[in-house]
Amino acid sequence: MSTPGPGALIVEAHAHRLERRHLAGLRELFQRASCPCHCRYWHFDGTKNDWLMRCATSPDDNADAFDADFERGDDAAQGVVVVAGEDVVGWLKLAPRAAVPKLRQLPVYRNLPLGDDADVWSIGCMLVDPARRGRGVARLLVAAAARLSRAAGKILEAYPTRSAPGPEDAWRGPHELFVELGFTPFEPNGAQDDPLGLGAPTHAYPVLRLPPNGVQRPPPLG
Ligand SMILES: CC(C)(COP(=O)(O)OP(=O)(O)OC[C@H]1O[C@@H](n2cnc3c(N)ncnc32)[C@H](O)[C@@H]1OP(=O)(O)O)[C@@H](O)C(=O)NCCC(=O)NCCS
Repeated sequence: MSTPGPGALIVEAHAHRLERRHLAGLRELFQRASCPCHCRYWHFDGTKNDWLMRCATSPDDNADAFDADFERGDDAAQGVVVVAGEDVVGWLKLAPRAAVPKLRQLPVYRNLPLGDDADVWSIGCMLVDPARRGRGVARLLVAAAARLSRAAGKILEAYPTRSAPGPEDAWRGPHELFVELGFTPFEPNGAQDDPLGLGAPTHAYPVLRLPPNGVQRPPPLG
């Protein structure tokens, strides 16, 4: 990797669809980031306390469950990685929306008529190596997800929070990045994004969509 200044792209990094050869590096990425979920939150059926206990006491169980799902070819363990040299430095969970039913059950989306799952792929979450943040890795991840969903003829959906005071709060992806790459609010109930009619979107949990032909400036997949 070169020595980019703040905000500069890591030019030697490439985005790939997750393959078996990336699994060990992906596990290491979550460990380096002290992130015990190993991308299992959407697939954990217990209570919130059960989940917190699992993350606190047995993060390897999460990593093992992820690997097992990957080996089965399960959509629960599909996504995009960014690789720099030998290291996996970025991860984005990209799954058919049907594979993440817990997402639609969240109180903020439960009553939204989001339509048939069949045509939609979801960005469930993302994680960038803390040592590589602010250099465009997430931009590479989202652009790669857009490229893959476009090739599959799918709508790509994202679920950011409008406000993300810290990097961990942006775990479903930065709102500004999605907007930059051409995502627009999906408002099946009308102008929910501007409830006060002020011309200023205020909805805290927008659902954003990118149509299959909507990606801008996709970098090449490595
Ligand atoms: C959020 C995160 C993915 C961003 O990754 P990144 O590689 O640093 O982001 P990029 O450098 O590609 O930023 C692209 C754009 O996204 C936006 N952005 C990036 N980080 C942001 C943040 N923390 N808050 C708000 N917007 C942010 C900016 O618009 C940025 O463009 P700019 O640099 O021109 O201002 C990263 O901070 C991260 O991994 N956070 C932890 C997430 C987590 O806990 N995941 C666990 C669940 S898997």
